[in-house]
Amino acid sequence: MSDLFSLAGRTAMVTGANTGLGQAMAVALAQAGADIVAVGRSAATGTEAAVRAAGRGFHFLEADLGQRHISGDIIAAARTCAAAPDILVNNAGIIRRNDALDFTEDDWDAVMDVNLKTAFFLSQAAAREMVPKGAGKVINIASMLSFQGGVRVASYAASKSGIAGLTRLLANEWAAKGINVNAIAPGYFSTNNTEALRADEARSRSILERIPAGRWGRPSDLGGAAVFLASPASNYVHGAILPVDGGWLAR
Ligand SMILES: NC(=O)c1ccc[n+]([C@@H]2O[C@H](COP(=O)([O-])OP(=O)(O)OC[C@H]3O[C@@H](n4cnc5c(N)ncnc54)[C@H](OP(=O)(O)O)[C@@H]3O)[C@@H](O)[C@H]2O)c1
Repeated sequence: MSDLFSLAGRTAMVTGANTGLGQAMAVALAQAGADIVAVGRSAATGTEAAVRAAGRGFHFLEADLGQRHISGDIIAAARTCAAAPDILVNNAGIIRRNDALDFTEDDWDAVMDVNLKTAFFLSQAAAREMVPKGAGKVINIASMLSFQGGVRVASYAASKSGIAGLTRLLANEWAAKGINVNAIAPGYFSTNNTEALRADEARSRSILERIPAGRWGRPSDLGGAAVFLASPASNYVHGAILPVDGGWLAR
């Protein structure tokens, strides 16, 4: 039973692991036995300390995931400093808020590039290493806006709906190659990403009223889902979008 959820001997790459949900998932994966390669534009010292406290290896690769043509280099750098990832968590993401009538092309491109385009090309580069091994796990981070429309977040809703479609497409193409592609759809969590929402008292209250669990999510609430989708326990799970939302979608 314990081997079902063990990540011993695995290397997990987590993007945006310096803070928020990415940090919590990296620490959970390390506690389940994986060495961590964190990829991002800000140093991840807090994450490194927690990963090392769990007795696992930690490497940081600095990269701006909004840039073009970087995915192959990131996977090659991981191979040099640690190993090509057995597990890839496409977590890094941004959000821009404005009315659809005023939304700018810059706010569209910035969000789509990090949230969707880089997630695809990093998955492609990682899968090119996973295919010869006949095994691998790709975990995308979706959102409630993979299922719902939202307001004032046009590019974010498009990117997260796109991530759901991409998760299913990649699962269709790679399941028979031994690669599991799935997504976690977090509900409302207290992180930098939701700072503006939480600062708006009326909005924050109305969100809380709809969450059956009666509280916003804590980043550590995602650990179990991340370990499940990274571990042998999910070997026959392909193309799923797993909500971790305190019951939000059930309402
Ligand atoms: N919080 C929620 O309620 C919620 C709900 C659903 C989905 N999500 C998704 O969960 C993921 C994590 O979000 P979070 O809530 O933890 O937000 P967060 O605290 O803002 O973390 C976002 C992470 O992405 C990194 N990142 C953003 N742009 C980057 C770039 N160009 N290059 C490299 N790294 C970049 C950030 O790095 P810096 O620290 O350097 O900016 C940070 O590590 C995102 O995909 C988000 O859309 C969050």
